[in-house]
Amino acid sequence: MDHKTINTEAYFITKEAIQDLKNNHNQTPNLDSRILLGFAMGLDRAIYPHEKINITENEINIFKKYIQNRIKGKPVSRILGFKNFWKMNFKISKATLDPRPDSEVIIETIMKFYPDKSKILRVLDLGSGSGCLGLSILYEYNKSKAFFLDRSLESLKIAKYNALKYKMEKRSEFICLNWNNEMWDKELHNIVKGNLFDIIISNPPYIPSSQIQELQIEVKTYEPAMALDGGKDGLTSYRCILPKLENLLSSEGHAFIEIGINQKNDINKIANSCDLIFKESNKDLSDVIRVLVYGLK
Ligand SMILES: C[S@@+](CC[C@H](N)C(=O)[O-])C[C@H]1O[C@@H](n2cnc3c(N)ncnc32)[C@H](O)[C@@H]1O
Repeated sequence: MDHKTINTEAYFITKEAIQDLKNNHNQTPNLDSRILLGFAMGLDRAIYPHEKINITENEINIFKKYIQNRIKGKPVSRILGFKNFWKMNFKISKATLDPRPDSEVIIETIMKFYPDKSKILRVLDLGSGSGCLGLSILYEYNKSKAFFLDRSLESLKIAKYNALKYKMEKRSEFICLNWNNEMWDKELHNIVKGNLFDIIISNPPYIPSSQIQELQIEVKTYEPAMALDGGKDGLTSYRCILPKLENLLSSEGHAFIEIGINQKNDINKIANSCDLIFKESNKDLSDVIRVLVYGLK
């Protein structure tokens, strides 16, 4: 390994990488290369273009490898192995969805419904992935407890890692269950000894199977299929989850459900056939209806 140090301006290292990214239709070549250069140098910040840096040849080679991966479509967050969401930095892996800024509207909506942060809430995060939703709620409500449920054991390990990183493990439980099993709510009841939940959050897979191949390479190649594929019409998970909410929610509780583009009416129809009342919907940063709130009839 060569540790020869070069003293230079970052610009001279990133110039060629930026051009390569541009040639490969990357939309954010400057930002991506600054972040990846910082990471290659072992820093947890981006490097400014005209910053004076001391960089080893080994670090330059690592940076070039990251740029090649980015050119192949690997998202920056997957190269780094973590992603910022709400107020925290979450470890991610092949088993977890990359947390989306659009999902932050779920946290904002919950905070509107529960303005008292000292409340002791029991939270269920269905399809927890990295744990970004449930752990962000624990961050805001520091007396509350969350149960993270996912069919992917590997994703639960990452959620647990994130809970430990933020010292929230004592307020977290991790449950490996598959909501495709008809009796999943009964199994959950047995595990949590019949206790109900004040808040149920879910961001289930909602992309219709036939549309997966049309997604950007960053998503279809690097996100776990289990986190994306919502079945033939995208609604399979909602049909498994919504009918069980009446057995899981406390009488005053609310469910905050993330949805895909234009799915509101179809999902409200499913909810109407269950014992749920639609309370409100909220839009994400792109003005798309992203979260539906339900209570019990
Ligand atoms: C869209 S991802 C959401 C992850 C995370 N909550 C987030 O917002 O970033 C959906 C999650 O649901 C899980 N999942 C998919 N099908 C499931 C099932 N049948 N039972 C339990 N979990 C499931 C996936 O493993 C994945 O972690």
